Amino acid sequence: MSRVRPRSVRLRLIWITAALLLVGAAAVLWLNVRGDPPIDHLPSPGGAQAIERGAYLARAGNCMGCHTSAGGAAYAGGRGIDTPFGTVYAGNLTADPDTGIGRWSADDFWRALRNGRSRDGRLLYPAFPYPNYSLIEREDAQAIYAYLRSLPPVAQANRPHDLRWPFNTQAALAVWRALYFKPGETAPPENASPALKRGAYLVQGLGHCSACHSARNALGASSPLDLAGGLIPMQNWYAPSLNSAQEAGVMHWPAADIVALLKTGVSPRGSAQGPMAEVVLHSTQHLNESDLNAVALLLKSLPEHANTAVSGRKAAPNAAGAALYDKYCVQCHGDQGQGVPGAYPALAGNRAVTMASPVNLVQMVLHGGYPPATAGNPQPFGMPPYIVDLSDPEIADLLTHLRGSWGHGATAVSAVDVHTARSRHLR
Ligand code: HEC
Ligand code: HEC
Ligand code: HEC
Repeated sequence: MSRVRPRSVRLRLIWITAALLLVGAAAVLWLNVRGDPPIDHLPSPGGAQAIERGAYLARAGNCMGCHTSAGGAAYAGGRGIDTPFGTVYAGNLTADPDTGIGRWSADDFWRALRNGRSRDGRLLYPAFPYPNYSLIEREDAQAIYAYLRSLPPVAQANRPHDLRWPFNTQAALAVWRALYFKPGETAPPENASPALKRGAYLVQGLGHCSACHSARNALGASSPLDLAGGLIPMQNWYAPSLNSAQEAGVMHWPAADIVALLKTGVSPRGSAQGPMAEVVLHSTQHLNESDLNAVALLLKSLPEHANTAVSGRKAAPNAAGAALYDKYCVQCHGDQGQGVPGAYPALAGNRAVTMASPVNLVQMVLHGGYPPATAGNPQPFGMPPYIVDLSDPEIADLLTHLRGSWGHGATAVSAVDVHTARSRHLR
């Protein structure tokens, strides 16, 4: 993090720091006085049935995705989550008594998910999406606990977090929680059917869709109920709005297409890329039909927000972009951008091309990619990377051409946009 910060950002950091210190002492005091809501004891977990249910729920929550390092033992921790404040390392969730959760009771575990507190009372960082997991029902937490305890224990010490002051203090977390954390915040619609409630539970709770699909404020907070889209911190990907049909909204899709997207990574109307491909790979492809339908029902019920007017230069077809398209893209995506059904997506009329934010579009061209390999689509067609072949101005011409062709009325992409999306840290 040795970037040069513009003055306004520095001022904002100083302001935030001062505010943190001021409110910190008061908040720590208040939280300590208030304590956590009481937790009654449940009988100990166990039983093959609970373990199997726990395995399913752990996938629905993609616990393994963060709690496993590249090439490391499953659930033994060590993966770093990059945030604008530094790196937070997910811990060892295996039953090792010294480095894992071997000495944790089911109640300790439930408290971590519900209230974001470790066994020793330490407040946890919201890079662990406990504002979402706070919705997880007691019995489900218990089943996940039983499942994790059934795995082979792995002795692997937790890596200390690497956060800047004041974000590395418990006081900062206490402030953050006082401002932004409401345990169990949920809003299944009034008179919701059981299926819709289940969908809300999976989307707002276990599935923690808002962890990516909402914009975080300057202190990294967002609401589990907000799915209006946002840049994923420290990654060059934009998780589009689930409230907008121009972005990731699927309210107008048939439920079967939504289910196909979540189960196989591809559908007649769109496919999963980048971080969403990981979500499908590790999590949603494992959901059963009834849960997939519940998620689809919830996504279809989301209110459609009017699209905010996009300002910027209108894209227009251009000769430089057309020549690049003919050289590099036409063989798969077709001269009318029609694609090849079942193999190469159409680019004409595709919201991945026309979305206001060009970030993901630039990512696709730079890095190419595959939809996830799933049981329903075991050998997906892939797209080659162009990071070596095409310069920033060339990609800008090419994408501006695509965003202005085939009746698209999107905004132009500049070389600066491409350069920004190419650089590693994007906020
Ligand atoms: C987006 C990444 C992410 C996902 C997904 C995730 N975790 Fe974590 N988890 C973390 C991070 C990071 C920490 C460390 C937080 C801290 O130490 O302040 C953590 C901490 C924890 C802790 C506390 C460990 C300790 O030693 O105090 C528990 C328990 C836990 N996670 C369980 C789960 C379960 C169960 C799931 C799935 C339902 C899950 N996590 C999914 C990132 C994640
Ligand atoms: C790790 C970050 C992340 C999480 C968690 C996540 N998404 Fe996404 N999602 C993305 C990104 C990035 C995209 C844009 C790329 C794409 O279209 O696949 C996306 C796209 C989508 C799309 C649009 C796909 C299309 O073809 O138009 C849908 C629908 C979606 N997500 C639903 C969900 C649901 C439901 C959940 C929770 C179960 C979820 N996402 C969780 C990052 C995430
Ligand atoms: C070898 C065939 C091939 C070539 C050549 C190719 N693509 Fe692709 N493209 C694909 C495949 C396959 C996908 C779907 C990948 C995925 O979903 O991850 C894709 C996806 C895309 C997407 C995302 C579509 C969506 O629905 O999310 C865009 C945008 C795109 N390509 C643009 C381009 C551009 C621009 C070029 C030329 C620079 C190009 N492609 C060259 C095969 C190709």
